Amino acid sequence: MNSSTVPSELVSRLRDARAVAVITGAGMSAESGVPTFRDASAGLWAKLNPQDIASPEGWARDKSLVWAWYEWRRGLVSQAQPNAGHYAIARLSASLQQLSGHATPVTVITQNVDDLHERGGLSGALHVHGSLFAPRCAACDQATVFTPPPPTEPVERITPPRCTRCGGFIRPGVVWFGENLDFRLVGQAVNTVRLSDVLLVVGTSGVVRPVSDLPTLARESGAWVCEINPIASAISPVAHLCWRASAALALPALLQSLSEAKGGP
Ligand code: OAD
Repeated sequence: MNSSTVPSELVSRLRDARAVAVITGAGMSAESGVPTFRDASAGLWAKLNPQDIASPEGWARDKSLVWAWYEWRRGLVSQAQPNAGHYAIARLSASLQQLSGHATPVTVITQNVDDLHERGGLSGALHVHGSLFAPRCAACDQATVFTPPPPTEPVERITPPRCTRCGGFIRPGVVWFGENLDFRLVGQAVNTVRLSDVLLVVGTSGVVRPVSDLPTLARESGAWVCEINPIASAISPVAHLCWRASAALALPALLQSLSEAKGGP
């Protein structure tokens, strides 16, 4: 189901909000051509075992396999463009200010390791799962920069580069299964949802902690929670409202409704 009808309660809740939080997952970038993880047929985890490719054990077993997979994804994302949903989120705060007459901060917490929010005009997104564009040394942690361009086609193995400081292998700057998230980012995400009046949860299956816990925390802290996802997810039971629509359809339609609501009751 994909409904472009903007729920009126969402508009009124946003109009009254003093602070808004947005959680995004892989579905946010699906309409930019970046595959999600858990789609039964086309999802990345339908074809690969996450433990082989996105865990410290996988890295220890076969660094070249892991590095090639992340380099392929970096290439894929570099070719992709932000979709209408990314642009709409970047404009949401300004749109709310126009509507309500007061500043309404909008803070985005994303599980996505792409840079499509930023290229869509947003700054300050909390990338709690890291970034495809922030490689670092696996041994000494020094940040590094990419030199060779990423492959345009999947390649089975690419030997990771070496750190210029200590000679260790360079690893992707993403969080793997079994690793801790950056505690400062998690703290900021927790504070953000606690202080928000409205939480939008866009395009996540809601099965990976700790992000999957945030909607419940927001609700317990008094936020009104709205899910935007074409199908039901683990977030749906926590949401006050489930809008069954895709990100690139729903979010621009929401912005349009907010601009039309200006001057309304
Ligand atoms: P998933 O692949 O688990 O879920 C994607 C969600 O997006 C599903 O609920 C889809 O229904 C929804 N979806 C698909 N297309 C959409 C669209 N056009 N608009 C809106 N929603 C759409 O991805 P995540 O929930 O992001 O972690 O996965 C969470 C984490 O699991 C990822 O960050 C990654 C993965 O393993 C790490 O790599 C650490």
